[in-house]
Order: sequence, then C-alpha cells, then structure tokens
Amino acid sequence: MGTSDRAAAHAGASVIGLVGLGYVGLPLAAAFVRAGHQVIGIDTDETKIRKLNAGISYIPDVNGSVVGQAVEAGMLRGATDFAALAVADAIVVCVPTPLTEERTPDLSHLSDACERIRPHLKPGQLIVVESSTFPGTTTGIVRPILEQGGLSAGRDFHLAYSPERIDPGNKQYALHQVPKLVSGVTAACRAKASELYGQVFDRIVPVPTPEIAETAKLLENSFRLVNIAFINELALVCDRLKVDIWEVIAAASTKPYGFMPFYPGPGIGGHCIPVDPLYLQWKAKEAGLESSFIELSGRINASMPAYVAAEVRRLLAPGTTLSGARILVYGVTYKRDVADLRESSALELIRLLVEEGADVRFCDPFVASLRLASGLTLTAVEPTAEAIAEADCVIVHTDHSVMPAERIAACAKLVYDTRHAIGGRGTAAQVVKLGGGSA
Ligand SMILES: NC(=O)c1ccc[n+]([C@@H]2O[C@H](COP(=O)([O-])OP(=O)(O)OC[C@H]3O[C@@H](n4cnc5c(N)ncnc54)[C@H](O)[C@@H]3O)[C@@H](O)[C@H]2O)c1
Repeated sequence: MGTSDRAAAHAGASVIGLVGLGYVGLPLAAAFVRAGHQVIGIDTDETKIRKLNAGISYIPDVNGSVVGQAVEAGMLRGATDFAALAVADAIVVCVPTPLTEERTPDLSHLSDACERIRPHLKPGQLIVVESSTFPGTTTGIVRPILEQGGLSAGRDFHLAYSPERIDPGNKQYALHQVPKLVSGVTAACRAKASELYGQVFDRIVPVPTPEIAETAKLLENSFRLVNIAFINELALVCDRLKVDIWEVIAAASTKPYGFMPFYPGPGIGGHCIPVDPLYLQWKAKEAGLESSFIELSGRINASMPAYVAAEVRRLLAPGTTLSGARILVYGVTYKRDVADLRESSALELIRLLVEEGADVRFCDPFVASLRLASGLTLTAVEPTAEAIAEADCVIVHTDHSVMPAERIAACAKLVYDTRHAIGGRGTAAQVVKLGGGSA
C-alpha cells in the first residue's frame, strides 16, 4: 500500500474477511485495501494462499506490486483456516458456483464456505454473498446454514447479497466504476452492506430484495448468452448469403438507439456466460417452466466449435477428414487477455480437430499447456514465423492484444479468423472470416 493510499485509511476502517480469492475475490481484496481496510483472505487452495502471503499476484488484473505492498504493510494476509475470520467485522463470500456433471447448480462450495464461517459468526457482523446464483439462495440456503449456530440474520448479524459484476480483462471499466447492486435480508442489512461498499464503489444501487439482486445478475448474463447466440446464428446465415456480418454489425451500430452490437465467435466460455443462465433455467424448471431462449441459445453457442472445424475442413480437405493436417490455434482462453481456460470453446474445437486426426498445436501467452478430457496434453508453442508457416491453417480462436496479427497475415498459408482480427492487413495469405460470407 502506497503512502497516499495509507493516508486514505479512515476512522471507520474495518477488518474484512474475503472468502474465495479467485478472479473476483483477489481484485476485491485489493479494492478494500485501497479503501483503507485490513483484509484477511481465506481460500481452500493452499497454493494461492502461499503466493498471496509471499506478496505475489496470480490474477492478471491485479498488479503484483499492489499485492506485495499490501502484504508488506500488514493490510492483506491469507489463510486456509477460517478461524482467522474471528476478528473480521465483515465477511464477503466469493466462492465458485459451477455446474454439476448433470449441468445443474453446484452450490457445494457456497454451502461449505457458509458452514465453515458459522463457528466464527459474531453479533453485529456483516456477511455478504457475491457469488452468482439463482434467486432464493441467500434467504433459502445461506441464511439457514448460518443461523444453525444460534444467531439470527437481521437481528444478531447482517446478511446481504451483492452480485459481482467484474469483467476480467476489461481495461475500460475499473472495478470501482461499475455500479454495485446491494440487497439485504432486511433494510438494515442492506444499509450496512451499502455503507461498506460505498467506500469502494463510485455508485451503490440499493435493490429491494436478495431475490431481485440474484435474478438481476442472472438476467445480465443470460442477456449476453442469448444475444451472442443470435449473432452466431446470423454469422452462419451471412456466410451462406455471402454477406459480411462484420460490415453488417458496423452499419447497424451507427443507429444511436435500440441497437447494441454483439459479435460472433467460436463459442463461449468462462465461469459466467455458459454457467449462470443454467442456474436460471434450473430454477425456472423447478417452478414448472421451460426457459426456451436459454435452452436454444446454449445449443447454438455449443455448436460453434463444430462449425469452425467444418469450415476449416471445407477449406482444406473438402469431403474428407483433417487427418494429418497441421492446425495452429492462436488463443485458447475463452476471451481476450484473460488466463481463464474454464469452459473455453477452444477445448471443444481442439478435441474435434484431434478426433479427425489433425496435428494440432496452439499458441497462447497466458496458457503453458492444456489437457483435454481424453487425457491428451498439448504444450504451447511460440507464434514464430516458422510455426505459422508450417501450419496448413492458423485458426484465430482468441485475439489477445499481443497477437502477432501482421506476422500471421504475412506467414500463414491459410487463416480461419473467428474474431475479425486479421483481415484488412494486406496479405497474400488466404484469410477467411467466420461470418465473412465465404461458405
Ligand atoms: N470470473 C468472473 O468473471 C466473474 C464475474 C462475476 C461474477 N463471478 C462469480 O463470482 C464467483 C467466484 O468466481 P471466480 O471466477 O472468482 O472463481 P475462482 O474459481 O476464480 O475463485 C474462487 C476461489 O474460491 C476458492 N474456494 C472454493 N471453495 C471454497 C471454500 N469452500 N472456501 C474457501 N474458498 C473456496 C477457490 O479455491 C478459488 O480460489 C462465482 O459465483 C462466479 O460466478 C465471476
């Protein structure tokens, strides 16, 4: 923590316990420290805690020097033992909310975290859940677990829900600039949480109930899922109609109202867009309703890697398989400038290419190696002129900002560009864009 930051420490400084120090928890911990609070980070992953206590950041969006200075100043420390929370005035829970093998909500991390917090709950404490989840989780699942210790939410301790809206890799909006939705199981709980977050975020948006805040988060991500699926479907239509969808989107985007651009791609990924809508779908099903939009959108997005593989086959080996073809995939994380491979469509794309017998290599500055479900492990190669020239086709899956686009354009025999990241660079190579009107 720098001198100016330390000067920002205020009389109301508190000790914040942060449970779950991943893509959401670590940036939030840094933000609380910046606001002058002392943070105790709890994670079940010993490696993360060891790194944290050594002053090392393991999340690209959090600067290493920020963590180093905060640890050195005694403002940030990590622990695997929840007993460290005994001194916390507020506890913020940012644990994962993934899917089970049956693709239903897996709240085991959240339940586990709450059970381990319970013995350390004390009167007056504020507990906030930030994990994305279906409506009813805070009042119907978290509350009963915490109350089993004898204290009552809203009377003895404060319980709030405030969904995390962080967008990893987004350089345009810093964490504190994104309005923060805050709800509580009572108005007093909401006020307590608003007071805490008001020290970190520029704008607090009070929301009437936890159910509304929970559903709002799922709406935001379902909105993206559906619109991405729609533009992906339209990319396929444009390919057939020989119309360039990228030009179509650019033209439509000049309308100052009633239109918001979404862009096609090789599929979706990450911990949010492919997962959160299924929480909503599951909850809808429980209430006896089918959420057709989510179902259909999931299907369309999931079909994109197969479309990309089929396009590459059409261009390289019409009517046969890709057996023996050398394919270089540039970028395997689910989106630009993040290190997150979770649910990335590149995994399915590579699986399909390998299944057809292709010799697949990949380049990604954020990923050293990846392992497919089959057990096959691939190690990253550097995007050298040789590696690019040796490939029968370079597939641009993720357009990281350090991608050597000029080199790819200059050296590749054929590029299949799913991100419209190579085109227009004046190249002798054949560049085919997803949705560019070539099918
Ligand atoms: N990643 C994003 O872009 C993003 C954005 C908005 C919301 N969210 C939501 O935030 C939540 C956290 O996501 P994330 O991406 O930070 O996940 P993550 O996997 O990066 O981090 C979660 C951390 O929690 C730890 N953990 C797991 N179980 C635990 C337990 N019982 N006790 C203590 N620690 C435990 C894990 O070891 C991990 O370090 C999820 O609900 C996610 O949907 C994520």
